[in-house]
Amino acid sequence: MTLWSGRFSGKLDAAAWLLNTSLPFDQRLAAQDVRGSIAWAGGLLQAGVLSQAEHAAIVTGLNQIAAELAQNTFTFHESDEDIHTAVERRLGELIGSTAGKLHTGRSRNDQVATDFRLWMLDSLPLLVQAVTGLQSTLVALAEQHTETLMPGYTHLQRAQPITLAHWLMSHFWPLQRDKDRLTDLRDRVAVLPLGCGALAGTAFEIDRETLTMALGFDAPAPNSLDAVSDRDFAAEFLFCAALLGVHLSKLSEQMVLFTTPEFGFFELADAYSTGSSLMPQKKNPDLFELARGKTGTLIGLLTGLLATLKGLPSTYDKDLQEDKVPVFQAFDTLTLILPVLAGALETMTIHPQKMSAAIDSAMLATDLADYLVRKGVPFREAHAAAGKSVRVAAEKGVSLDELSLNEWQAIGRFESDVYQVFDPLESIKRRNATGGTSPDSVKKQIAKAKEVISHQ
Ligand code: ARG
Repeated sequence: MTLWSGRFSGKLDAAAWLLNTSLPFDQRLAAQDVRGSIAWAGGLLQAGVLSQAEHAAIVTGLNQIAAELAQNTFTFHESDEDIHTAVERRLGELIGSTAGKLHTGRSRNDQVATDFRLWMLDSLPLLVQAVTGLQSTLVALAEQHTETLMPGYTHLQRAQPITLAHWLMSHFWPLQRDKDRLTDLRDRVAVLPLGCGALAGTAFEIDRETLTMALGFDAPAPNSLDAVSDRDFAAEFLFCAALLGVHLSKLSEQMVLFTTPEFGFFELADAYSTGSSLMPQKKNPDLFELARGKTGTLIGLLTGLLATLKGLPSTYDKDLQEDKVPVFQAFDTLTLILPVLAGALETMTIHPQKMSAAIDSAMLATDLADYLVRKGVPFREAHAAAGKSVRVAAEKGVSLDELSLNEWQAIGRFESDVYQVFDPLESIKRRNATGGTSPDSVKKQIAKAKEVISHQ
């Protein structure tokens, strides 16, 4: 049964029904739908539309529905057009015709927008929590590796030595920004559409401020036309999700790279790697590849919703029913990926000797230039001299630290202490300014990260 059959004498075509129904995906809003309806019943009582007894019957019925939903004993009917219809149908079965009073002054337009926002208010903290889980893993690993050396890259070319802790923490902060965005989004979600009716507002004396408080929102939406059609919060959520995905994808890409035998920096635990059906030797980083691959989908979900919203005539259009699937999908994807990535990082084996072996002395060419700068040589000149030493060493087929003192002195103002430059740990320790890779600096960074996490 639909809620609107009165005007119709014929039935909806079967295929058209399948296109129209939203129950398969909006049943996920069931708990929120009941909560919204309980608040609405309170509003109707205050407005004098419901008597005390009717209100009590409706609330009792809705509470029973909430219990059935929680215990998974609620039966959906194929004829329920959407979650709102299903709840109202069941309420009728439980309390009889009084159930028919609940929808007074309300439309599914303000109802669904309210349900969806309630769902998001419930769900944002869960996603934030999952991100914190991965962040905690990164911090715990970083704490153990403030002196573990690894090559740092630009253009995927060996650039300068860094610490593993610094690299791990470089993936912490983007996630922190993701959480800041998700937390900030909450304020724009917590604007209540309920009481806006189909589009023009409700014709009953509903106190929307009381409704707002009852449902834990911050304020009633100020314009009913906007309220029933505003899906900015869903688009924003999808942007936050896509960018979070991009961050996970970047991390994953490096994990894929660093677990190859060519790099060999990390080795995944069996619990987080997969084999090949053909090649017995293979240990594949599928889970990181999936995180990277699913990010393509996350970006598509955002693009899809924006395209749906673009050019919609005001106010409610059925196109808006397409808002929920991408949001649910993005949420499910991320809450699935995040703990897996955390587990994979936690359990991987780290090979410090592989990482330090990948640091060659040419990566200290910047330090060589800095060495000359400390002796009073202008940086540009120092850069040229260091560059020349790299060329000379390459021509001779030796590594930089193998040049003789005579060779050094022929290149520039180098002295016998030049050999001290080639200790990568010393190089790292010199990068001690805030945000740098020195062990002290990274320890401060970790302390700050822990403080930031504990504030949430
Ligand atoms: N299932 C609909 C949605 O998700 C509920 C609102 C229906 N409103 C309407 N006027 N048909 O958007």
